Amino acid sequence: MILNFYLFHDNFLIFKGEIYKMKNVKIIAIVVLVFIIAQLFSPKKNSGDIETVDFFLNETDPPEDVQVILKNTCFDCHSDHTVYPWYNTITPLNFWISEHINEGKKHFNMSQSQWSTASLKKKDHKFDELIEMIDTKEMPLKSYTWTHTEANLTDLQRQKIKAWAQKVRESYAAMTLTTN
Ligand code: HEC
Repeated sequence: MILNFYLFHDNFLIFKGEIYKMKNVKIIAIVVLVFIIAQLFSPKKNSGDIETVDFFLNETDPPEDVQVILKNTCFDCHSDHTVYPWYNTITPLNFWISEHINEGKKHFNMSQSQWSTASLKKKDHKFDELIEMIDTKEMPLKSYTWTHTEANLTDLQRQKIKAWAQKVRESYAAMTLTTN
């Protein structure tokens, strides 16, 4: 009698174990399926012409080294052209990247279509914010520097960007004086 009870008990446990296993397999299968189907969806790419930043570069005249920094660490999110990393082919990473680009462009866009139509006051304000972003190390975004190691700016690089930005602000101030 006692022996029988134990046998039954053991079988029951095995039975329960099988159920748990089946459940796990089902959950994993659903997750994999959702992931595969998700790959069919991707956001629109930011793939306009990079030459549209020339207007901005001509106007703000950054020295060669600052130009290289802007190109390597800012254009991806603040111009009409992004050089995408390989993992942008994976959904949902591409939606996360796209969100940063859209947000970045909404706040500050160096492309001609945006920069040539902005008022002096607005442009000056953007450079004020730029200096703050560089000072507080909010830019480039942290998540970007994880995979773009060249975007980990040194203190010297930050100083150079700030010196350039301050000069740009002075030139805008002078332009405001002459246009008033
Ligand atoms: C990975 C994308 C990304 C990169 C790279 C990046 N930014 Fe941004 N930037 C953003 C986003 C998103 C915002 C808006 C949200 C915020 O302020 O955090 C923003 C906002 C800004 C703003 C406007 C702040 C405001 O208050 O409106 C400035 C100026 C700026 N960035 C400058 C830079 C500069 C300069 C670089 C390069 C050194 C850079 N960013 C690199 C994504 C990026």
